Amino acid sequence: MAYECILTRVEAERVGVIQLNRPKALNALNDQLMDELGAALKAFDADEAIGCIVLTGSEKAFAAGADITMMAKYSFADAYKGDYITRNWETIRSIRKPVIAAVSGYALGGGCELAMMCDFIIAADNARFGQPEIKLGVIPGAGGTQRLPRAVGKSKAMDMALTARMMDAQEAERAGLVSRIVALDKLMEETLAAAITISGFSQIAVMAAKESVNRAFEGTLSDGVMFERRLFHSLFATQDQKEGMDAFVNKRQAKFTHQ
Ligand code: CAA
Repeated sequence: MAYECILTRVEAERVGVIQLNRPKALNALNDQLMDELGAALKAFDADEAIGCIVLTGSEKAFAAGADITMMAKYSFADAYKGDYITRNWETIRSIRKPVIAAVSGYALGGGCELAMMCDFIIAADNARFGQPEIKLGVIPGAGGTQRLPRAVGKSKAMDMALTARMMDAQEAERAGLVSRIVALDKLMEETLAAAITISGFSQIAVMAAKESVNRAFEGTLSDGVMFERRLFHSLFATQDQKEGMDAFVNKRQAKFTHQ
């Protein structure tokens, strides 16, 4: 499929990179971009040669939110019946391989929500996060009111959703929204290094770890712990478990075959 709003490439061994590419609109997320993003994510997820996916934007903007020009003309009936703006947003949740958001510049509204749908966020020191939808007479519509409190707690989430103020990278790291901050000119290098590390591990174990951590946000602690235990036990059926443990015992580097 030829894309117009995103760029895709296999940048390093077993790492698929998706770059949002509407620079003139600060990567505003229109339906075409979201359709293309969904297709690209599914293609990398299905590709045996890919072990980890990186989602990034430009230096100035990861994404400045849903496309306001597109949304401005919608009626309630358009938005509800057509499921415009937010259709396809949950595709990212169905991706089973890890997706890392490499965020520089603005991650606002749907841009912040998209970053939060990724498995973790590595932020450049110029990153700014916010949910400014209230200024437009609406509220976050792609999970912001649900994922932000889980990431940063109620008080900061309310502050951001109600006042529309932005958080800089330092505050976002302190609050637990991002996993680490790196210098802007090192953002891709550091993110690719993390992605290469992940894609070198057993893909089955990586997928199981992702599935199990995500389970922490659904249901009870005891259900989650039981889910984790069952997955943990099942990994003893893989060749990668034999290889990983044998390599440790014999003091050599493991070579995973993802079987
Ligand atoms: N939608 C459409 N176009 C956008 C956009 C958006 N979300 N954000 C920026 N742009 C466009 C601007 O209209 C401008 O286009 P023109 O050059 O054609 O005028 C171009 O990108 C550059 O933007 P600015 O001139 O505004 O750049 P700036 O550096 O002065 O400001 C900014 C940057 C603070 C990010 C500002 O652009 C801004 O506030 N953008 C809107 C942010 C926002 O409200 N996001 C939430 C959207 S609603 C949402 O996301 C709903 C949801 O939950 C799903």
